[in-house]
Amino acid sequence: MSAAEQVIARLRASAKYRDVHPETIADLVRREHHGDGTIGAAELERRVRLRLHKVAALHLSTARPAGLRRGLGRTDLADPASRKEWCRQVLGSHFSTAERLPDLEVFYPTVLGLVPPPDTIVDLACAMNPFTLPWLRDVTEARYIGYDFNATFVSLASTFLARTYPDCEVSHADILTGAPLVRADLALLLKTYHCIEGRESGAGLRLVDRLECDHIVVSFPTRAMNGRAAVFSQQHVDALTALARDRRWAWSRTALPTEELIVIRKRS
Ligand SMILES: C[S@@+](CC[C@H](N)C(=O)[O-])C[C@H]1O[C@@H](n2cnc3c(N)ncnc32)[C@H](O)[C@@H]1O
Repeated sequence: MSAAEQVIARLRASAKYRDVHPETIADLVRREHHGDGTIGAAELERRVRLRLHKVAALHLSTARPAGLRRGLGRTDLADPASRKEWCRQVLGSHFSTAERLPDLEVFYPTVLGLVPPPDTIVDLACAMNPFTLPWLRDVTEARYIGYDFNATFVSLASTFLARTYPDCEVSHADILTGAPLVRADLALLLKTYHCIEGRESGAGLRLVDRLECDHIVVSFPTRAMNGRAAVFSQQHVDALTALARDRRWAWSRTALPTEELIVIRKRS
């Protein structure tokens, strides 16, 4: 077994990263190994663990999946008020959706007010965002399809959607490693573009370029995780603006208190 194969096998079996999609682990190992083909398995594993920590571990849920599953079993999901109340709790357990809670009532009215009515929406790197479906349904009946490389998020969201919105689904996939993505009227790439660019420079831009979607909403948090203003987003907004200009796509920018939205129109 080569050093790369050994490291892939060890990381896939590790308690910390067994939830991460095998393609994500293999991709990070391959990249790190190609960067320095002379390193042994131990050093390769150390470097990939550092990368995985940034790529996957910084955005985990604070709630235990077993507790969320029990809550899912106990909640009266047929009652719209208790459904929303429980979803709020789940959304609060993940940094990105917890941050979105103050804007939740206006989030989808704002987004859907910027694009033509969609029939299909894909949510790329969705984490706990499928639990905003009760609010999405207040403004559209569009079919929702989420993607995430974290198996726990996917399994929780899939169980929830099967019981509440059976026409919607979440897939376990790494959106960067060539998994086929559904063609949609609207793609959401919420608060993940900068993470993708951190994993591989240019990967966010290439993803936006290749997506077969009429409209794409890319968002950035207005605050970094340490609470300071998210100054890092400007370089990404500039790169997206330049791409839109090159491709002759229309684009616009809207700010909510917690999230800045870039809307790209590839086709109308
Ligand atoms: C910062 S959170 C954003 C979550 C969500 N979009 C939101 O705004 O609430 C990043 C999420 O993206 C997922 N993720 C990051 N890179 C990914 C990739 N290449 N493919 C699939 N999921 C990815 C992580 O598992 C994590 O759940």
